[in-house]
Order: sequence, then C-alpha cells, then structure tokens
Amino acid sequence: MCGIFGYIGQNTNIELGLNALKRLEYRGYDSAGAAWFNDEKKEIFYIKKTGRIKSLEEEINKSVFPKIGNPFIFHTRWASHGGITDANAHPHYDCHKNIFLVHNGIVENYRVLKQRLSEEGHKFYSDTDTEIIAHLIEKFFKGNLEEAVMSALKLIEGTYALVVISQKDPNKIVAARKSSPLLIGVGEKENILASDASAVIGRTKKVVYLNDDEVAVLTPNDFNIFNLDNIKKEKVIDEIDWDLEEAQKGGYKHFMLKEIMEEPEAIQNAILGRLIEDDGNVKLGGLDSVESRLRNIEKLFLIGCGTASFASQVGEYMIEEYAGIPCEFDIGSELRYRKPILDKKTAAIFVSQSGETADTLATLKEFKNKGLLTLGITNVVGSSQARETDAGVYTRSGPEIAVASTKAFIGQLTTLILFTVYLGRQREMSLVMGKRIVSELVKLPDLANQILKTDSEIRRLAEKYKKYHNFFFIGRKYNYPIALEGALKLKEISYLHAEGTAGGELKHGPLALIDENVPTIAICPSDSVYEKMISNIQEIKARKGLVLAIATEGNEEIKKIVDDVIYIPKTLEMLTPILTTIPLHLFAYHIADLLGRDIDKPKNLAKSVTIE
Ligand code: M6R
Repeated sequence: MCGIFGYIGQNTNIELGLNALKRLEYRGYDSAGAAWFNDEKKEIFYIKKTGRIKSLEEEINKSVFPKIGNPFIFHTRWASHGGITDANAHPHYDCHKNIFLVHNGIVENYRVLKQRLSEEGHKFYSDTDTEIIAHLIEKFFKGNLEEAVMSALKLIEGTYALVVISQKDPNKIVAARKSSPLLIGVGEKENILASDASAVIGRTKKVVYLNDDEVAVLTPNDFNIFNLDNIKKEKVIDEIDWDLEEAQKGGYKHFMLKEIMEEPEAIQNAILGRLIEDDGNVKLGGLDSVESRLRNIEKLFLIGCGTASFASQVGEYMIEEYAGIPCEFDIGSELRYRKPILDKKTAAIFVSQSGETADTLATLKEFKNKGLLTLGITNVVGSSQARETDAGVYTRSGPEIAVASTKAFIGQLTTLILFTVYLGRQREMSLVMGKRIVSELVKLPDLANQILKTDSEIRRLAEKYKKYHNFFFIGRKYNYPIALEGALKLKEISYLHAEGTAGGELKHGPLALIDENVPTIAICPSDSVYEKMISNIQEIKARKGLVLAIATEGNEEIKKIVDDVIYIPKTLEMLTPILTTIPLHLFAYHIADLLGRDIDKPKNLAKSVTIE
C-alpha cells in the first residue's frame, strides 16, 4: 500500500517525482519522502514529511537544497513498524548517509538484525524495520551497489519492493522485489521504477514486471536484471493499455461515483468476446491450458479478502448450484492459518482486484506449494496474483482508484458467472440452462444502466437515512454476501456502523438491537427465498424498525410492508447479486457524500493491502 517511484534519465527536475507520487496517492499513505543525487555537489539530498504529498512539496520548495538531481527516489509510507513520524518516513539511510532507499514490505527478522548491527557499531535514527536494510547494504558496500544489495537481501526474511541509490555509486538505481509489486518503466533515455503502473503511464507504456528474488540495475539508457547470485536474467517488455485519461475522474465528484457509474461497462467488458450463445457456453482463453485438469477437479476453494471475499462467497453458491462442484469459500487471512483437507483433485480460485493482497497471495503460495491447481480472477494485469496462478481470467474492469471497491466487485461477480457456466458445461449443466444464463448475461449491462438512472431517488433516500448511526443489511442465499458488501461499503466510506447478516440469523441475536433508531436495508428480490425474507422484514417491523427494501420491479405488495423501496429489474436468481449491489453502492456513496466524508481515501484504509 506504500508507493514507490524511482527515476534515472535525462530529466533532472525532481518535480517529476512529486507528480508521479501524486498518481500513487490513491493507495493510501500517512507520510511521504524523497532523496535525490545532485551531481554538482556530489551529494544526496533528502526530505521526509508526515501528511500529504503537498506537505512534502512545500518542504522541498522552502528548502535551500538544489532541486536538481538524478537519480531520485520518492515514496509514500503507510505505517507498519514505527509510528507516523518524519524520521520513520522513507527514504531511509545508513550511518554515513551514503545509501538511501525506499521500501514496501516488512523485514520480519529486523529485531535480530538490528541487534547484530548495533553491536557492530551502526547507529539507528528511526523505529522502522526498513532502516535495517540501509545499514546492511552499508556493511556490504565495497564500491558496487548491486553487489552490496544482493548480499544484504540474503540476510533478510520478509517481503520487499526496494529501490536504492548511493552517492558512492551514483550513476545507477538498484531495485529488488520479493512479494511486493515493483515494475520498471522503460522510456526514452530514461528508466523508471514504480510500485504501480499508474506512476509511469504518461511517460511510458513499456513495462517490465520484476519477479520475486530479482534485482534490477537501471542506468539512463539500460536496465539489467539479475538473481540474488548476480546471474543475469532475460526479461520481456510488456505494453500496458491504461492511459492517464482512464485513471482520472472523468467529471465526477469522486472516483468512487465514477467507478459505480462504470459498473454496466464492467459487466460488458467482462463478457466481451467470451459468450458462445448458441452453445450456451463461454470461452475463457485464460483457462485453455488447464481445461482438462478442470474437468477432473472434485473440490473448489474460492478465496479473497474484503469485498473480493464476498464475490468469492457468491461464487461458492453459484458454482455449487449450477456446476455441481463442492465449493468452500474462505477469506485469505483465515484459510492460510487453517489446515484444509486438500488433495490433487482440489483447485482454488483466488479473487482479487489488485492481485497484490498479501493474505490472498500467501494462501495462493501455500496451495501452489502443495501442488494444487491455482486459478485467478484478477483485475490488475501483470499483478503478482495474475503471474503466480497456473491460469486465470481477467475481470477487465479497468483501473479502480477509489479505495472502496465497486466496479471491480461487479467485474468479479460477472467473471464468476462465466466460471460457473464454464465449469457447469464441462459437467451436468444442460444446453438449455447454459443458454438461459448466457442470454440473461447479455441483457445485464442494460439492466444495470436502468438502476443507475434511479440515482437521484437513491440520493433522496440517502438524505433521509443519513441521520442514523447504526444500520443492518440483511439478505439470504445469493444476496447474503451482498448484505455483507452493502454493510462494508457503508461503514468503509461513511464511518457509520453497519452490520451485514443473513436474514435467518436475525432472531439468533441481532434482533435485540432493532428499534426505530436502527434501520435495516433488506435485499429481497423475487427469488426462491423471497417469502423467508418477508418473514424477516415482518420481525423487524414488529419491533418498529425502519426498512428500506431492494425489491424486484412489479412487486407492489412490498410497498405496503416496508418504509421505502428501491426497485431492480428482473433477472435470473443467480444474477441478482450484480443488480442488488448497484443501489447499495450508490446508497453508501450518497450517505458518505452528504456527510462530507473523504470518500476516495477513507481514513485508516488503503487501496491495496500488501501487508498481512
Ligand atoms: O485488491 P483486492 O480485491 O484483493 O482487495 C481486497 C480488499 O482489500 C478490498 O476489497 C477491500 O475490502 C475494499 N476496500 C472494499 O471496498
């Protein structure tokens, strides 16, 4: 979740680094810093500051330092070890301020290393684990920076995306990666390092993704990649297809609103070129290499964190019902510590927008080590998850900038429907059923657009409900995970307390909290559990609870029971989660906006959770 930008090339104005850092702001951070080598003075200058990038910019501008330099490194920090202070911000440096580095990740054995280095006479000035790396490099430095970095990394247990410069070997940047994203932007007479492609777009579209245990050495005209034993490796240059324009707000007040408005497009992009209507089937090129293995699997795990875990849970229900495969959904941060019963006929689908979520990736590695088939549903192309899974399908939702995941969730749900048809048609799913799902999928973007047209009505409801401090979201079957999603979204961006629960669980405890001050959002489309949901709503009404229902259009009966209704168009039961989610995203957005929250960057949260 920290951001890295490193540059070496013909540009010597360090403002370039500040601008790039601003494009990484969405990742969430609490402090920022920069270091740059000034050739005239033969010295590295640095500034570190808590707060927004603006504060760093002001510090740089008012400093007496030359603002000219090359190479330079910039960083946004999201505190993990050590409090939010200027000293703990990156870059960190060694005893003699010769070596400067920025780091994303965690040095797990830093206590032992710090003790050892202290005994050897190293002086520390911060509470961070990162600083250890600078001192280790110092210890091994004999004039060649990459060799010292390689020696240091051999002693480090943990994760890193690391970018290092030294005033004693100043004509290069050295970088390394282990379980934390890092890429090289290959430009004209310049090379860039970044934790995220959005920091390099605008300057170059050519990128090289670093893999674990690789060390990169960049000069203005060249880059080379080595393993930790200094053996050179060949790398392929990829082309990224996101431009800067796509990553901007497009006229909306917030990225989140723009991204909700892109939900129909997210469905469209996910299904584009993948439906075979006549065969009632789908074509998922990313699964070609594992097609026959998938025919033989007997159990499927679906794994994600946060919103992606809710998509996984919907996927569990869909695949179980329509493909007949026993499924188990779990959250990455739990499954990795359990001892699930696995055999070679088990496969796992990992669901993640960023493809960099640490707990999901850790579970993925565990499954891979056990020789299981691993599949990914990922949005970010070239991300760790996309590269580490055996095969997978991209959601193609486009860049998602707001911390709250919206269109990416819709993309995940849509892709899981495709998976369901793919796996089902490999098994018992009939042609008729396949055709039915596929033909309903085709209609879905239009149905989603119809819901977006009710935006002003949802805003009006948000006005009414914004005064409450506690909410329940209830749903059953396919819409139980959507109740969890609705509640998470509301609490995440509005800071109001919201709890998602299965309708049937209400009377097992939560009902005790229901009164006229605790509204419930009840997701009750006309499906196989509708009557049960109505019973739950009656239980709430009997206790004077206010109910806002999400119901299927044409259902006039519900108006007599609840206080307010948002209608969604009719579709197959299995597809309703996509449609019921959209009003919940808008509802959360409008309440947060009316309360004046920092919607795109909610407090305490980051877009990509790359630490455990
Ligand atoms: O990038 P991922 O999809 O793996 O992220 C998983 C969660 O961190 C993410 O969905 C989080 O819950 C969002 N902030 C929810 O809006």
